[in-house]
Amino acid sequence: MTNITTTYLGLSLKSPLIISSSGLNSSIDRVKKYEQMGAGAVVLKSLFEEQIMHEIDNLTQYSDYTEATDYLKAYVTSNNVSSYVEMIKQVKASVTIPVIASINCVGASQWISFASQIQEAGADALEVNVFMLPTDTQRTPAEMEEIYFTIANKLSQVVTIPIAFKLGTHFTNPLRIIEQLWHRKAKGVVLFNRFFEPDIDINTMKITPAAIFSNPADLRNTLRWVGMANHLIPKIDISASTGVHDGEALIKAILAGASSVQVCSAIYKNGPAHIESMLNTLSSWMNSKGYKSINDFKGLMNYGQIENPSLYERSQFMKYYSNYE
Ligand SMILES: Cc1cc2nc3c(=O)[nH]c(=O)nc-3n(C[C@H](O)[C@H](O)[C@H](O)COP(=O)(O)O)c2cc1C
Repeated sequence: MTNITTTYLGLSLKSPLIISSSGLNSSIDRVKKYEQMGAGAVVLKSLFEEQIMHEIDNLTQYSDYTEATDYLKAYVTSNNVSSYVEMIKQVKASVTIPVIASINCVGASQWISFASQIQEAGADALEVNVFMLPTDTQRTPAEMEEIYFTIANKLSQVVTIPIAFKLGTHFTNPLRIIEQLWHRKAKGVVLFNRFFEPDIDINTMKITPAAIFSNPADLRNTLRWVGMANHLIPKIDISASTGVHDGEALIKAILAGASSVQVCSAIYKNGPAHIESMLNTLSSWMNSKGYKSINDFKGLMNYGQIENPSLYERSQFMKYYSNYE
């Protein structure tokens, strides 16, 4: 009998499959269905820092961006801190699996004090989704990174629930960021977030949104950093995100060192039954290998465990170029 329970951020999960932060978790009925199908936890759609700032009547500082301000004003009418807190309470009352709240932020401003409301509403953990697209040529990477550390420092003074940072891929040294977040009491990291990307329509000559869903090949970059981080910063929990589309991908992420995976695009595409199918693949594989629990194989193929760790480090195709003349 295989046991697929796992621990993430100190929370006990009945399975390592978490439904990622997105509109997927905005309906109570859907969250109930995800629980029924075996999901270990859900991460609620992010509450955006701008929404919170509006609530405290501070949006004027964004007034340089008229369009953004107008959009936000309309948005916050129906989406503000109070309704977010209400949603946490409702989801908590409807399911027994852990409910992780999510805040999207671009700085360490007054919104941090609202994190305590999220905790009081009953969220089991807080996922912090930080992203600042650098458009200032004078700002150094160290200055940008400092914002993450300030957020972590301040949040740890406000909430006692576990905190995970959901990171993007664009750091010069992601491993240092993860280590520094661990020193600032982050219990986990989600590697990685996927952001809106622009495309250009050459017929209409307009900027259009690129595909919003990931594809299975995106998993490779996730695996590299999960594999390295699990060995080099072993105490921080890792949730693998981006490119986890099937049961095999889930198994690979755990072998690399993740204690859970987050799935979004694959659920949008295949519906809730896909959860059960992914978990069945996991159980059958564990049976075939004789693994009784997730800990039996978690991190078994991380950077420190494999015979040739340089396979995780290799970034140039040097050796392979010669085969493609
Ligand atoms: C429609 C949609 C909405 C999303 N909304 C959020 C969000 O509110 N907060 C967040 O942190 N990530 C959000 N994401 C990103 C997902 O949580 C996830 O990190 C990303 O899609 C990569 O995972 P995947 O490969 O399983 O899709 C969203 C993704 C999609 C497709």
